[in-house]
Amino acid sequence: MLKRPFHLGSLKLPSNIFCAPLAGCSDLPFRRMTSAYQPGLIYCEMIKMDALVRHDPHTYRLLDFEADMHPIGAQLCGSKPGLAGKSAKILEEQGVDVIELNCGCPVDKVTKDGSGSGLLRNLPLIGEILVNLIAAVKIPVTVKIRAGWDEESIVGPEIVQIAEKAGAQAIAVHGRTREQGYKGSANWDWIRDCKQAAKNILVIGNGDLFDAASVERMFSHTGCDAVLLSRGTFGTPWIIEDIYRHLSGELSVSRTPYDYRDALLQHLEFVSLYHPPRKAAMDLRRIGCWYLKKGQGTRQLRELLNKSRTLEEIRELIRNYAWHETDFSTPEVEASTLL
Ligand SMILES: Cc1cc2nc3c(=O)[nH]c(=O)nc-3n(C[C@H](O)[C@H](O)[C@H](O)COP(=O)(O)O)c2cc1C
Repeated sequence: MLKRPFHLGSLKLPSNIFCAPLAGCSDLPFRRMTSAYQPGLIYCEMIKMDALVRHDPHTYRLLDFEADMHPIGAQLCGSKPGLAGKSAKILEEQGVDVIELNCGCPVDKVTKDGSGSGLLRNLPLIGEILVNLIAAVKIPVTVKIRAGWDEESIVGPEIVQIAEKAGAQAIAVHGRTREQGYKGSANWDWIRDCKQAAKNILVIGNGDLFDAASVERMFSHTGCDAVLLSRGTFGTPWIIEDIYRHLSGELSVSRTPYDYRDALLQHLEFVSLYHPPRKAAMDLRRIGCWYLKKGQGTRQLRELLNKSRTLEEIRELIRNYAWHETDFSTPEVEASTLL
């Protein structure tokens, strides 16, 4: 299986296949599932600078990780340069390997104070925040952007230059605009344009990577240095192994219904160990749907999970389902519909 080491500044990563920050999803149980397949880098959920500097316990919990999850990245959201250095220092002390600035979150609550994709409308501020982050720590700093606020204001290549000048090691480019949200296809030309504008900074391609073939296409279309998987990891934690195999020309592994069942049960155990029972049961409805939507003949189980109240009930429903009557060889839904 091909896994080429990849350098982010002085940090050596096992590969250039990364797993994205996913607010509300990439918690410790989720990362246990994907980190088992050894991605190059895996990110915790986005956290807010102001919550971090006021030592909000909920925010610190989003940074929970285990020794075998290295290399691990933390993503910061905020628009106040004065908080950047302090936040970065806290993260470095917590032991993360990489810090990323979020310039892509489209949510109104976040953009209204100029954070997330709000920064796409104030490019000098991106530079200022990055300079402060980078000055405060020894670990590599990266930035993640959308291509622009809307189609009329594509600013990716400009941010590449700003980030490069500030000393960021890499820029992840999601090939959608803020206006698009998650609708429509990602435009990989915008990622290619960023790569062409880059001199030393590494460019990480992101958007619509749902299987190994799409990762290969992303590399060849954009010339990017690394890729960042997002929704493609929902319900298929082994996608990382599939990609390593595909890129090295090895035969793909076909996953049976029992592989999906066992992974879902494993995910359930991780969730139940980490979250209080009520939250765990609620999360499991969504998580169950990710796995089950990949197969045919799973509708009944999905409906039952959505009505279930306890983890015991969910576990039994999954264990006792007629898995031999399901078929996961052709996906029933487009992976992109999994939000
Ligand atoms: C539920 C969800 C949560 C997300 N949370 C974050 C986040 O915290 N930080 C971030 O930079 N991007 C976040 N994203 C965006 C993804 O990282 C990624 O850029 C986007 O989904 C495009 O990739 P995809 O088309 O392969 O899913 C989130 C996306 C989803 C669907």
